[in-house]
Amino acid sequence: MAVASRLDTGRAFAKVLLPTPAKGVIVRRPPVMAVAGTVRADAVAVATMMRFRERYGPEPLRLRMTGRSIALLLDPVDVSRLPADSPSPFALGTREKKAALAHFQPHGVLISTGEERARRRALNEDVLRPERIYARGIVADEADLLLRHVRSTGALTWDSFAQSWWRAARRMVLGSFARDDVELTDMLKTLRAHANWAYLHPRREVLRRRFEERLREHSERREPGSLAALAPVAEVVEQAPHWLFAFDAAGIVTMRALAIGGAGEAGIRESARLWPTTPVILRESTEPTHWHGTWLPAGTTFVVFTPYFHRDRDRLPYADEYAPDIWPAPPEPALVPFSGGPGACPGRDLVLVAAGAMLDALRDHLAVPTLHAPLPTTLDHFALSFDAVNTTG
Ligand code: HEM
Repeated sequence: MAVASRLDTGRAFAKVLLPTPAKGVIVRRPPVMAVAGTVRADAVAVATMMRFRERYGPEPLRLRMTGRSIALLLDPVDVSRLPADSPSPFALGTREKKAALAHFQPHGVLISTGEERARRRALNEDVLRPERIYARGIVADEADLLLRHVRSTGALTWDSFAQSWWRAARRMVLGSFARDDVELTDMLKTLRAHANWAYLHPRREVLRRRFEERLREHSERREPGSLAALAPVAEVVEQAPHWLFAFDAAGIVTMRALAIGGAGEAGIRESARLWPTTPVILRESTEPTHWHGTWLPAGTTFVVFTPYFHRDRDRLPYADEYAPDIWPAPPEPALVPFSGGPGACPGRDLVLVAAGAMLDALRDHLAVPTLHAPLPTTLDHFALSFDAVNTTG
């Protein structure tokens, strides 16, 4: 088994693992995103991973650490094994995720285990099917209002987009009465900001309880056409923090898809391949596992740094281009913007429908694309802005 030198272990932390939390895994931090764009942090991380693969070969690369077993995956085939064999022997709820997510979704499926996980997973799969809520209609309404604003101001900025997207998200999750409850999603944002500093920050129990109480009030209305109507109130209150939180990623992906002239569901998938919103997929083994002739101990944390696999110039001729034709069945096992296997994103189809609808409603009214191949490895969505073009309707 390849074991990284001390220097390379340092590089793995400095250039790949630490810059990702700095940008905010749970909620993106604008100033750090801007700096990341300038120093090309993701490009450096991808280049570092490429060098590791040249130096150590395709086996998982063990980092040299006392008291922890951490392995970086370098082979695309290994990447597909990890999600396929989750949650056992590769558990989804790693200690990093538990520490982060306990701040705002202690009962979320992602950090649940055993029977509870199975039950919560089934619930998510059941309710998150796009045909079960009024996703298209809600997005069409909000896109319409947003376009009026864009025409009057002459441009679409991240701020105006995000306001609209959050209205749509609150309606899809909790119904029309929650549409303008900005305070609800602001509370979530604060809880998420603390989750970014998972280990260091004391949990805000008071705020979390206030947030849950508000969620409960909205859920009790069980508005038809929203996710809240599809499950018992107690379950909605437990799962909705993740649903709301994850719509943020869907908005970011939509805005970036606009920047590359993307269209429809394939445009959304490509945006998520080129700039993964879950750049690090983590699993923790529950028993010893066998890799390329060596056993790795139980409790090993496996790290899949997806930007490396999604932008692998040695293997993918389209690595840095917009390549919608590779979807929905990509020719490579390691293109996993929504992860894969039994722990894959159960919201994927809802995202493709809702975000795809928003993208298609906006694209013809804006002057895009502004970016061309080779596409940059980091794209600061906060800084994106598109001019309105003169269209009717
Ligand atoms: C562009 C948008 C999105 C992307 C790229 C995305 C991606 C992902 C990924 C990669 C995972 C696996 C995480 C891991 O293995 O640690 C995941 C899990 C999950 N996602 Fe999404 N997601 C998105 C939006 C959504 C939305 C809008 C919802 C719900 C409304 C959602 C619900 C979930 C849930 C419940 C899980 C946990 C699944 C489990 O533990 O079994 N996601 N998502």
